[in-house]
Amino acid sequence: MTRTVRKAVFPVAGLGTRFLPATKAIPKEMLPVVDKPVIQYGFEEAIAAGVEHFIFVTSRGKTALEDHFDRHFELEETLARRGKTAELEALHKWQPRLGQVSFVRQPEPLGLGHAVLCAKDLVGDEPFAVLLPDDVVQAAPSCLAQMVAAYPGGNMLAVMDVPREQTRRYGVLAPGRRDGALVEITGLVEKPDPAEAPSTLSVIGRYILDGAIFGYLERQERGAGGEIQLTDAIARMIGTMPSNGFQFAGRRFDCGDRLGFLEANIAFAAADPALGPAFRALLKRYAREF
Ligand code: UTP
Repeated sequence: MTRTVRKAVFPVAGLGTRFLPATKAIPKEMLPVVDKPVIQYGFEEAIAAGVEHFIFVTSRGKTALEDHFDRHFELEETLARRGKTAELEALHKWQPRLGQVSFVRQPEPLGLGHAVLCAKDLVGDEPFAVLLPDDVVQAAPSCLAQMVAAYPGGNMLAVMDVPREQTRRYGVLAPGRRDGALVEITGLVEKPDPAEAPSTLSVIGRYILDGAIFGYLERQERGAGGEIQLTDAIARMIGTMPSNGFQFAGRRFDCGDRLGFLEANIAFAAADPALGPAFRALLKRYAREF
């Protein structure tokens, strides 16, 4: 039986210091990959996975995000008056329905686990998805849709193999039994040294979590960097419920990093039906120059 995941949490309270000065007045989630803000990729991915309620954990200075998911009446009127129906339809296609979007503030940047905890009252006691918008995944079906279809209950984390020298950037699994794309999690280590990493299966920013995680996050135990870490709570729950990694099919880009962001722009522009052919020709011209 496929379990439905009705709610998705988007932690977007980070400062985005790696993109300064671009992110001084604009949230990093609003930077565009080709012609869509980064946040919209995760949002559309959640819609494609059947999610019905979208919860954004924001902070000061993120009002552009709220505006982005609101209707823009004057813009719609103007587009309609000018006969720009394609643009209007493109806007309406992903416009959230009434009451589908909620915003909650994280008052202090105490870590990803703390950001997720801020959504507790809005999520309640049911399995829910967490999407870190920095991770943009090019996949069909969408990464979260693949996860929902394979979800066996408990906690499930999207994972991918990374070169061993990169394990310091990720949460890394100690893998147990494998069943297709599912890998049982027997342990979870945050940002291990390559020599000590239990594997190279690394967690990316897509999770389906059991509502019981809030009880663990409420203990507010500090982990790496003095922050309340999501992976610490997930690690503590191993053995109390199914805990699995999920090897998704698709390509993930780290848009929280400048090079990853640029690569995402290349990949999505090259795949764009209208822009792709001219863009690929442009890339080839530049490749000859380098
Ligand atoms: P990052 O570690 O990328 O931090 O957060 P950041 O502040 O967003 O970016 P840099 O490193 O300064 O450039 C990972 C994810 O966790 C969220 C961020 O918004 C991002 O989606 N987060 C992190 C919170 O919502 N609250 C926190 O306290 C920490």
